Amino acid sequence: MLAGKRIVLGVTGGIAAYKSVEVCRRLVDAGAHVIPVMTAGAEHFLGATTLSALASEPVQRSLWNEASPIPHTRLGQQADLIVIAPATARLLAAYAAGLSTDLLTNTLLATRAPVVVCPAMHTEMWEHPAVQDNLAVLRRRGVHVVEPDSGRLAGGDVGAGRLASPERIVAACAAALDGGPMAGWRVVVSAGGTREPIDAVRVIANRSSGKQGYAIAAEAARRGAAVTLVSTVDLPGPAGVTIERVETAAQMHEAMARLAADADVVVMAAAVADFRPVAVAAGKWKKDQGAPPIVLEPTPDILAALGAAKPAGQTLVGFAAETDDVVANAEGKLRRKHLDLIVANDVSRPGVGFQHDTNAVTLIRAGGRVDTVALATKERIAGCVLDTVCELRADSSHPTPTPAEPSAEQGASS
Ligand code: CTP
Repeated sequence: MLAGKRIVLGVTGGIAAYKSVEVCRRLVDAGAHVIPVMTAGAEHFLGATTLSALASEPVQRSLWNEASPIPHTRLGQQADLIVIAPATARLLAAYAAGLSTDLLTNTLLATRAPVVVCPAMHTEMWEHPAVQDNLAVLRRRGVHVVEPDSGRLAGGDVGAGRLASPERIVAACAAALDGGPMAGWRVVVSAGGTREPIDAVRVIANRSSGKQGYAIAAEAARRGAAVTLVSTVDLPGPAGVTIERVETAAQMHEAMARLAADADVVVMAAAVADFRPVAVAAGKWKKDQGAPPIVLEPTPDILAALGAAKPAGQTLVGFAAETDDVVANAEGKLRRKHLDLIVANDVSRPGVGFQHDTNAVTLIRAGGRVDTVALATKERIAGCVLDTVCELRADSSHPTPTPAEPSAEQGASS
């Protein structure tokens, strides 16, 4: 996968710059043509001669090389991949903001090749919201992020922020060139809470922000899948994701049934209203008419319907928002709706579920395996959900529940 590929290896100014030498060596050993680009900061930590000796070409540092005018466009356009190891907080901020101050940042803007960034910095900097926000922007644009390891840092303290191992970085480069582990898969994700109209201006809604569904769609696209997101919320679409906007449970049902028919993976992350008003008042219900008589009826259970019609080989994932008996209730939904995987969360816990940027989940597979994921960003939870989906699909022996007799829920969906 790496053999014959032109790889620009960007090195920025952090202590971990010395480890870029090992990354360079491994890429060259794998047959890649490696062109190192160092920032001025990197030269405080690493001699350019070392990288020049080991790479396929001498180190490049300047935008103003008389022998090669506009070097960044040549580097960016000809690259098959750009990897930045280590990537400092400054580089991440400049890249997220689109600043072009030196050869490396210009090259990043001039390329259409996949980009892998490998951040390394002190824990306090790594956890700073500015750094995490910049990473979220980059991820949304399809940049591959190799998260740092936890361990001993330059000052002797211990925490998250240590540059990932050269093995992990080189594997991430190979995966990025490969098109990703989900290349060729059609993935459909639903996100947000449905809104059921009462009259021309009022709706029955719920607290879902759509963030978890968006994070799953973004991560699936980053892994190479063709992703459609059926969404009720007005967030900007993640890079490479097709968005279909809906509002009501009925509209979401129509969109999901149509798209799921030929999907490889379906993830139902939306919070669907279980009940809707039987009648929608024409125009605005006026205050002087008194309290409106709102009579509710069940909505279709979209996921149960998708489970009943699931094509062979499809992986169907549901969510379960619970406050009590989380695992038992989620297992019931897994069985009744013929799912391969259910992602259960206890929405009564602080920082979990609706509207938060974080989540903590229990992943329950149809085969019975149960994994818990402690409180983490919704992006990380998305990664864990998709790791599990990839494992299920890699394991051809995984039980794919087939539809049985219609249950009460399926009855409600007809
Ligand atoms: N779901 C659905 N259609 C509905 C209700 C729920 O497709 N009308 C899906 C959700 O998107 C989620 C799963 O079913 O993936 C479980 O939703 P949840 O609200 O946790 O459970 P319900 O089945 O609605 O049961 P209850 O509200 O009684 O817990």
